[in-house]
Amino acid sequence: MAGASEGVVELGSHPRPERALPPCALVIFGGAGDLSRRKLLPALYNISLDRKLSEHFVILAFSMEDLDDESYRALARKGIEEHSRRPLTAEGWRSFAPMLHYARGRFTEPADYQKLKKTVAELDRQYATGGDHAFYFAIPPDFIDSCSAGLKDAAMITRPQTGRPFTRVVIEKPAGHDLASASEINDRLSRYFDEQQIFRIDHYLGKETVENLMVLRFANAVFEPLWSARFIDHVQITVAERDGVGSRGGYYEGAGALRDMVQSHLLSLLCMIAMEPPWTTDADAVRDAKLDVLRSLHPLEPEDVAQWVVRGQYSEGLVEGEKVRGYRQEDRIAPDSSVETFVALRCFVENWRWAGVPFYLRTGKRMAKRATEIAIQFNALPRILFNARPRAPLPPNVLTIRIQPDEGLALSIISRTAGEPVRLSPINVDFHFKTESPDAYETLLCDVMLGDQTLFMRRDTVEAAWRFVQNIRDAWEAAPAEPAFYSAGSWGPVESALMIAADRRSWRVF
Ligand code: BG6
Repeated sequence: MAGASEGVVELGSHPRPERALPPCALVIFGGAGDLSRRKLLPALYNISLDRKLSEHFVILAFSMEDLDDESYRALARKGIEEHSRRPLTAEGWRSFAPMLHYARGRFTEPADYQKLKKTVAELDRQYATGGDHAFYFAIPPDFIDSCSAGLKDAAMITRPQTGRPFTRVVIEKPAGHDLASASEINDRLSRYFDEQQIFRIDHYLGKETVENLMVLRFANAVFEPLWSARFIDHVQITVAERDGVGSRGGYYEGAGALRDMVQSHLLSLLCMIAMEPPWTTDADAVRDAKLDVLRSLHPLEPEDVAQWVVRGQYSEGLVEGEKVRGYRQEDRIAPDSSVETFVALRCFVENWRWAGVPFYLRTGKRMAKRATEIAIQFNALPRILFNARPRAPLPPNVLTIRIQPDEGLALSIISRTAGEPVRLSPINVDFHFKTESPDAYETLLCDVMLGDQTLFMRRDTVEAAWRFVQNIRDAWEAAPAEPAFYSAGSWGPVESALMIAADRRSWRVF
């Protein structure tokens, strides 16, 4: 860590620069697709607005659509207009648009890689990139192998041992649909790339509030001494989405909430809360600490799954006063689909720090509101002194970390209300973080260019997460059943409330 100005320290081995990122040609496979239009191009536009991009930076979209540079720029412009964090301005567009180029090609056609290689070489010359390349695979996982092989056969992959020029590859989640397919993809990737070249995205790790969890825990003296089974009763992690499956029905039918959200985002949040302090902020030290958490998760046996995992699906209902369809009525969804859009579960991190502390996780689409939040509930007070009234126990202290929206931190404490007689009631010490954070993809794309893997999933971590969810999938597949239905706009099926009630606890109310 290096002091930047008084009271401000920069984090990580590659502090994100205020100004230029290193030279690089970013080749986006599937550059005309949904992810590019909604996330990648708006993120790159915002990085450009901040004037961080190197003058030796260029974007080349490689995709099957019949486009050229001009029509691709028009498509990009529309995506940015619709999805950018900050509005598109004439000036911003003037400096961003010329960086965008398009190469049409098929992911499985060797001849198209030869053309791609030629185009990249021309851009390398034109922009003086120094031959540094990042390949972003914004494509379905089935193509990962053929795209990697295409690049290899066209001799477009350098090994990192040679230093510069670098070749990096960015992989989107979910890479695989179970443990076996995820490790097969990883095996294949490792034939073409070294682990240091592979950047596996879990975009939750790029959210500033998620990154801030480590800072909260390890840059403050007040939390860590309390951060264990000795003082914590339980932890709740909620990732609630208001939106339904939208236009992604085709993908979602093969995924479901367990693969789409729990395997990645929820377990990542769990790791941030439960990990031991890493000895340095270097990528591998941080990822080792997360891996330890995943390895400590108590594997769920089929009887645990039956009792402690709830699989739900939304039916029609009202979301903020608007009537919305049920999951089975959504586009590209089987009318009898039993895919889950909601999961709630209880798990244990079996190590010295967390022995006996339940972690309750829940996520769902079409919930009452959008809210990602972690609540740490501290132990109940002894039943003496202020807490001696048998029928009115004082509520325990809860530390709530709001990841999105309305990012912030609240600590509920007990205080005396004003006036007579003496009454005690909970009050919230509430703090709102500054709002204008970069989008997760902005942070992650900068880190790819900087070569900082801290916020990316390492192979062993991804597989450990799959191992945990695999038991759940196996139990579901061994005993197929209808999901528990919940009305859109609610907080999930009643089974979820009953699950936590069986432990004499309840979900937090928002
Ligand atoms: C994605 C999932 O990874 O995360 C989506 O595939 C989900 O289904 C999205 O909607 C949620 O991300 P965020 O940043 O909107 O909370």
